[in-house]
Amino acid sequence: MKIVSTINEVRAQVKEWKKQGLSVGFVPTMGYLHEGHASLMKRAKGECDKVVVSIFVNPMQFGVNEDLDSYPRDLQADSKLCDSLGVDLIFHPEVEEMYENGFCSFVDMNGLTKELCGKSRPIHFRGVCTVVSKLFNIVTPDKAFFGQKDAQQLAVIRRMVKDLNMDIEIVGCPIIREEDGLAKSSRNTYLNEEERKAALVLSQTIRLGEQLVKAGVRESEELLKVMKENLEKEPLAKIDYVEAVSMDTIEKIEKLEGSVLVAMAVYIGKTRLIDNFIAEV
Ligand code: PAF
Repeated sequence: MKIVSTINEVRAQVKEWKKQGLSVGFVPTMGYLHEGHASLMKRAKGECDKVVVSIFVNPMQFGVNEDLDSYPRDLQADSKLCDSLGVDLIFHPEVEEMYENGFCSFVDMNGLTKELCGKSRPIHFRGVCTVVSKLFNIVTPDKAFFGQKDAQQLAVIRRMVKDLNMDIEIVGCPIIREEDGLAKSSRNTYLNEEERKAALVLSQTIRLGEQLVKAGVRESEELLKVMKENLEKEPLAKIDYVEAVSMDTIEKIEKLEGSVLVAMAVYIGKTRLIDNFIAEV
């Protein structure tokens, strides 16, 4: 497995592979890799001849009061995991390699980013779209793999690829959970023992929501009310949002019909965690 830090090195390697007729799978990450990322890499490995993983904590997608500086990093452990899963190339650029002096072009979106995480993180998706576009232009993959845990991000990337005619297949992969239900996230590492226990209220509420839909609840107001009440029982939890939205447009919906994304963001102490489920009605 190669680890490179420059755009030219990635391009040279991918060019070589393409000359040999090999397909390229891409898993963009911010590092501090866990089993959620591992599931994306395994899927990429199963579907493509070569796999590229990027590890880049993208400053552009963090707001001023967010956790850019404290975001966990461990390149050594990440490389070991990637190597063990048969990843062929890690791209680990410095900020200056991605955003050279004078950088002033952005990829932004008018729809899909106003609700859910976009409400409390207004510049986040502009940063995500810009860096993912850049990474797609650098790696030129056939397929790119994203987790369903960041459901809004997945919808945004799908829309961007469609709107900008990017010739890349976007593959969404299921949420991976700890044994007790907590969705895997690099940010789980911020939680102390008490908060870690309290964080279970997210996955418990997701399960409750799934049961309610199964039992026939079809009004999102009714569903969200019960879910919010459940979250409010946990004293360490502070709700950012719990919403039911259309899978494709991320617009709020009143009636559960077709595929509906039921998503939440909840602070446990200072840590903001997200979780979701798709209601197929
Ligand atoms: O999901 C993430 O880790 C990031 O948002 C991504 C897609 C790597 C862009 O920085």
